[in-house]
Amino acid sequence: MSENFGGNSFSMKLDEANFADSFGVSLGDLPARCKKLIADKNFEYNVLKGNELESFLVEILKRIDEDTQKIGVEERKDVWERGWRESLDEYVQSNFDIKKLVPKFIRPNQAIRWQQQYILPVADNFELDYVEVLREWLFPAYFSEVDTIHEFGCGTGFNLLALARIYPEKNLIGSDFVPASVELVNKIAEKQSLNLRGHIFDMIQPNENYEVAENSGVLTFGSLEQLAGKFENFIDFLLRKKPEICVHIEPTIELYDENVLSDYLAIRFQSKRGYTKGLLPHLSDLASQGNIELLKVKRLNFGSQMMEGYNLMVWRPVKV
Ligand SMILES: C[S@@+](CC[C@H](N)C(=O)[O-])C[C@H]1O[C@@H](n2cnc3c(N)ncnc32)[C@H](O)[C@@H]1O
Repeated sequence: MSENFGGNSFSMKLDEANFADSFGVSLGDLPARCKKLIADKNFEYNVLKGNELESFLVEILKRIDEDTQKIGVEERKDVWERGWRESLDEYVQSNFDIKKLVPKFIRPNQAIRWQQQYILPVADNFELDYVEVLREWLFPAYFSEVDTIHEFGCGTGFNLLALARIYPEKNLIGSDFVPASVELVNKIAEKQSLNLRGHIFDMIQPNENYEVAENSGVLTFGSLEQLAGKFENFIDFLLRKKPEICVHIEPTIELYDENVLSDYLAIRFQSKRGYTKGLLPHLSDLASQGNIELLKVKRLNFGSQMMEGYNLMVWRPVKV
């Protein structure tokens, strides 16, 4: 993290060491493409302080009070269907511009959470840029040995496209519980000529006939959060299907420190909306019972204005 003092203001910048620290790896573990992205993107920011921070905190508290969204209720399914149908239409109307596949919940020009502080990025797409760097480390770190990768709750197929660029030869399978997402994934596969297929799958009521081929990896990226805590059927399904590796990037309420204000506000927001909690304790129980190996749990210390959506849990079922 470098500091450049100029007049009264100073800006800082995420560097390779910050990313390695966020991912819990050493510098040598960052692939070359990851390092190139860190160098090419603008990761400068200013830390919110003083009066600016105070007004921002009031805004956050008001947003928590006023927010009425409830995760996992029946209407949310229609909201996802409408949202992804809109993305599908925009993708088609733009003559298949993959930029239209960036999910709208990754919002530009927002304050960011970094190391339990609120920061104001200099560049518009700081969150998206961080996610791109994260994926360039994460996917090669965990999926290089598998033949098939399944993303459950894949939305616009945004992560599958990144996987296809890194691994054009692997079988990529995206599933979601709304048809618009599946249509979108199949459209991307057709237009970009990718080894990718989309399927309907509801993680709350997993279909036992859904095939998880031998030597598969599993990814969830902000989708278990949407189950409002009803993840046990899905984890049991994975225990039966025995993929080689399961990688989750999900908000994880258990990793916050309730004695830190920014964390406490995120706990309040996540709890009010009802995002999934309890996944990490559940995985820890399965590990202590000898059913899974819990390979990595890492708080990335990065998030958007209201919460940290990006924490890492990696495990694999124990095969007997
Ligand atoms: C926050 S989005 C994440 C999308 C994608 N993984 C990404 O990173 O862009 C959550 C996704 O989970 C899907 N989802 C919500 N509940 C689900 C369920 N019960 N089964 C399968 N998918 C679900 C939604 O349709 C949506 O695509």
